[in-house]
Amino acid sequence: MFDYAASTAMVTGASRGIGAELARALASRGIGRLILVARTADDLHSLAERITAHHGTPVEVVVADLAQPGAPESIKIETDRRQLKVDLLINNAGFGSYGAFETLPLDKELAMISVNIAALISLTRLYLPEMVERGRGAVMNVGSTAAFQPTPYMTTYGATKAFVQSFSEGLWAEMQDKGGDVRVICLCPGGTETNFGAVVGADRGRFEDTRMASPVDVAQAGLHALETGQPYIVVGAMNYIGSLMPRIAPRAVVACVAASVLRPIEKAPQNSRAKKRTLSFPVMTTWAVIAAGCIGGAYLLVSQRRECQD
Ligand SMILES: NC(=O)c1ccc[n+]([C@@H]2O[C@H](COP(=O)([O-])OP(=O)(O)OC[C@H]3O[C@@H](n4cnc5c(N)ncnc54)[C@H](OP(=O)(O)O)[C@@H]3O)[C@@H](O)[C@H]2O)c1
Repeated sequence: MFDYAASTAMVTGASRGIGAELARALASRGIGRLILVARTADDLHSLAERITAHHGTPVEVVVADLAQPGAPESIKIETDRRQLKVDLLINNAGFGSYGAFETLPLDKELAMISVNIAALISLTRLYLPEMVERGRGAVMNVGSTAAFQPTPYMTTYGATKAFVQSFSEGLWAEMQDKGGDVRVICLCPGGTETNFGAVVGADRGRFEDTRMASPVDVAQAGLHALETGQPYIVVGAMNYIGSLMPRIAPRAVVACVAASVLRPIEKAPQNSRAKKRTLSFPVMTTWAVIAAGCIGGAYLLVSQRRECQD
């Protein structure tokens, strides 16, 4: 278990969506103190008031734009000034973009790297030493099922989440070498019903039949995995199966299947079945792997029979 009552948790991107639900879920588990971080001060303050009113949890608000250079350092200075130590750091703030890469505004792609990667690395580097020194603590990084394969038309986003996944697992292994109880977990949601799609600007037509998880369920799954000491959790059984398939399928097949699923509808070839496809990515990947397995199996069979004949 994780000692919530003796802990202060910082949640970035807590103004709405998965971050807000993580904050609520922590409060209901009796977290000692919460620090909520995002840009939208009004939303942070109203969530803080509601959490304190409902659970009696003391809540601090730190308004920051994590795309700005130096923002993580300013947050650390501010928490030090308020004499707040962080035992559980949840790097949840993040966003994506959608469209042909060459048409996307470069400043948004670079801001995404700042928020999804640079701020996450910086905050972890700033708060982890104290956890290691105390011999207890946890870092939860919010990744995505987008980490497990390239995500054409959300190419930068998928790459940022692949980074988060690799970074988290590497750090998790480093913490296994230490004597204390410092946990690292990567929470990997699939499609979740939040404001994420609106920020991304995705063509909802392609995804409208895709089943979305609720941010409440994602938050609960993340905290449960934290409590049981897992290095990562993929939310949802089908998403989990989908995350395994790209490991054994040829990389080019995986990238092309992902492109057929994510390609903007208006850009799909007129007669293409891709236009009508509404299957989720894990299902598509599963079929691709089964097909690749059948072709590979047939090839092995034929080559073995030839060897026998020779
Ligand atoms: N929803 C999904 O389908 C899905 C799937 C997999 C992974 N995820 C991941 O889950 C995390 C949370 O996303 P969500 O679905 O809850 O989306 P959301 O509803 O759009 O929430 C995103 C949060 O990040 C904050 N944020 C964005 N840019 C920021 C910046 N520059 N500085 C500080 N805070 C910033 C936002 O707060 P302000 O705007 O107030 O700053 C907001 O609180 C993200 O890392 C996302 O990649 C989402």
